[in-house]
Amino acid sequence: MTTISNALELELKNLKEKAQQEIKSITDLEILEQLRISYLGKKGQLSRILRGMGKLNREERPHVGSLANEVKEALQINLDQQRQILQTAQIKAQLIAETLDVTMPGVNRPLGRLHPLNSTIDRVLDIFVGLGYSVATGTHLETDYYNFEALNIPPNHPARDMQDTFFLTDGHLLRTHTSPVQIHYMEAHEPPVRIVAPGRVYRRDTVDATHSAVFHQVEILTVDKGLTFTNLKGTIKEFLKQMFGKELPVKFRASYFPFTEPSAEVDIQWQGKWLEVMGCGMVDPNVLKAVGYDPEVYTGFAAGLGIERFAMVLHQIDDIRRFYNNDMRFLSQF
Ligand code: DAH
Repeated sequence: MTTISNALELELKNLKEKAQQEIKSITDLEILEQLRISYLGKKGQLSRILRGMGKLNREERPHVGSLANEVKEALQINLDQQRQILQTAQIKAQLIAETLDVTMPGVNRPLGRLHPLNSTIDRVLDIFVGLGYSVATGTHLETDYYNFEALNIPPNHPARDMQDTFFLTDGHLLRTHTSPVQIHYMEAHEPPVRIVAPGRVYRRDTVDATHSAVFHQVEILTVDKGLTFTNLKGTIKEFLKQMFGKELPVKFRASYFPFTEPSAEVDIQWQGKWLEVMGCGMVDPNVLKAVGYDPEVYTGFAAGLGIERFAMVLHQIDDIRRFYNNDMRFLSQF
């Protein structure tokens, strides 16, 4: 054996040992591949050692050659094993990371809900839309003409006292009821009219359990040829039946509103008590004249109801102020 062959053998042995140790310490598949290239690749360390074989005798070459092959095969096996280990670990880690624990409690996402006043308005609208009515709206800021005069409430009429009004310095006022929507709608449309108009209204009332300076009404207006009080009664009764889910005893009690003649207040028997739930009547001929309808040709009926009152009755709410306090303990019950 020459010294060159000895030196080569030693180099191969060292290379194998060094490579084996390194391979075992690798924890990353990419780095493992880089390591394979640096040892076994075309320009790798093993090839570099083998280039030294040119200096060997003919007899020595097979020996060193087969030793080089052994080293190569051994390292190849080590590399494969380490790759296997790393791949298995990778899959295991992935499985753990992607495990879905179906027994884990869910995240609580609180759902928003309709305010009880809005859901009550929606119920009223749904019923009238089902009866063929269209939804109309008006403005909160009104003039004396639409809020009073066109509704047959002339200046100094005592009925104005019932509706203590917020006046603005520019002559406007905050509407005290949804009835002005009747006038706006009729001015813009020819009969037949079938509208339901929800909205906020304002009065200079002192706030207590049953009064609020801001509250909500729904106005109903129908105008056509040949309408009578019977049509009014039938419509109101059908509405109340749907609203309360059953046919309740209903009373039409004679009353007075400037914009209707005759006028009535409607009482229902609910949980043993008679409750006043709305005002109504046949549209006064003066109101029809004010919008240019001929009262000899057309008749109509109108009604107005307080949403807070309905919501309080339906949900057994004892104090109107609960609607406006934004107390989640109250609101989340609806
Ligand atoms: N506007 C009246 C009020 O606020 C309610 C009302 C009564 C409206 C009778 C009507 C009606 O349309 O016919 O007190």
